[in-house]
Amino acid sequence: MTADHLAPVYAQWPLDVVDGEGVFLRTRDGRQILDLYGGHAVAALGYGHARWCAVLEKQSRALLFQSNAVPLEVRKRAATKLAHFAGLGLDTVFFCSTGAEANENALKLALRITGRRKVVAIEGSFHGRTAAAGAVTWGAAEKWYGFPRPPFEVEFLPRGDLAAVTRLVDADVAAVIAEPVQGVAGAVDLGQPLLAALRSRCSEAGAMLILDEVQCGMGRTGYPFAATMHGVAPDMLTTAKALGAGFPCAALLMADHVAAQLKTDDLGTTFGGGPMACALIEAVVDIIETDGLLANVRKLAQQIRETCVVGPVTAVQGAGFLTGLRTRRPAKDVQRELLGCDILAGTSADPHVVRILAPYVLEEVHVEQLRDALASLPA
Ligand SMILES: Cc1ncc(COP(=O)(O)O)c(C=O)c1O
Repeated sequence: MTADHLAPVYAQWPLDVVDGEGVFLRTRDGRQILDLYGGHAVAALGYGHARWCAVLEKQSRALLFQSNAVPLEVRKRAATKLAHFAGLGLDTVFFCSTGAEANENALKLALRITGRRKVVAIEGSFHGRTAAAGAVTWGAAEKWYGFPRPPFEVEFLPRGDLAAVTRLVDADVAAVIAEPVQGVAGAVDLGQPLLAALRSRCSEAGAMLILDEVQCGMGRTGYPFAATMHGVAPDMLTTAKALGAGFPCAALLMADHVAAQLKTDDLGTTFGGGPMACALIEAVVDIIETDGLLANVRKLAQQIRETCVVGPVTAVQGAGFLTGLRTRRPAKDVQRELLGCDILAGTSADPHVVRILAPYVLEEVHVEQLRDALASLPA
């Protein structure tokens, strides 16, 4: 047993947080930390956003839970709002609770509908820790997978290898699953040419294209989804994290031809589509739209690109606020030093990428704070 009764599965950052306001966290010893990580891309509106909090309180008093068996106006409104926000012809929504669960369901549908047995994923991918999502996660088998075998055949496509698309995506493939901008890999934009090639090859081969926008979606790139940014419409899209901006929820969005194959009982979940989650999903989309946050992300991401190649940073990669600062020295050291300057950033699977997952409400002055901190560090 551990002293705090918690499973000892997370390395703990040296940070004793008591609360948060706006883009800042406050620690027990009174430090004010600029949070550019947002709990793995979740806190997209920062902390204590007045409208988010008001909706949480109002919905919790009105009706805190009913399952999907009970039709709710707020659920219909959230699905409609999300489908319109995505604008990709993905007009049917299945709400669930986590990114892994959304991916699990997307993969299950693709395998069932096509009747095929193989899935192609991309090197560097992260799709979650469950049986199917873990099977398409790069390196999981060696690190933590734990299940005796994957539930279907998996092949990994080398990033950027356009020639491999035709070779790997054939008539045995049920689905290709890809993060348009890979998160855990270190903010790696797969790029329009690869995504477009995957789209057209999937259509030719009768395979489904699943875009995992659990981390890069919901406005993080400065567009509703990275699929929008790259002009590539998948058959299914999954999203979570910023979707509730702190309220745990996820969604699987489907094109009509996928939804047409669904019948009662094909998918299910207890918590997904609950009224609290749905009220907050509706509110998050509304806040992103009415507060002009997509434009803010695009503008400040540009400011980061133009000003933050200083100190140990040699380049900026990724898209929007899924930003990778490529560092000359180990990213872990730079992350620790930034924390010493009261800035919280993340790392990634790439030992030379510091990952920034800033809240969409960031302001120019905060980017200046980041630039000044980086400039003060040894190159
Ligand atoms: C791209 C991507 N997909 C899926 C997941 C899994 O989401 P969850 O932890 O909510 O299951 C993550 C989590 O980091 C992710 O980044």
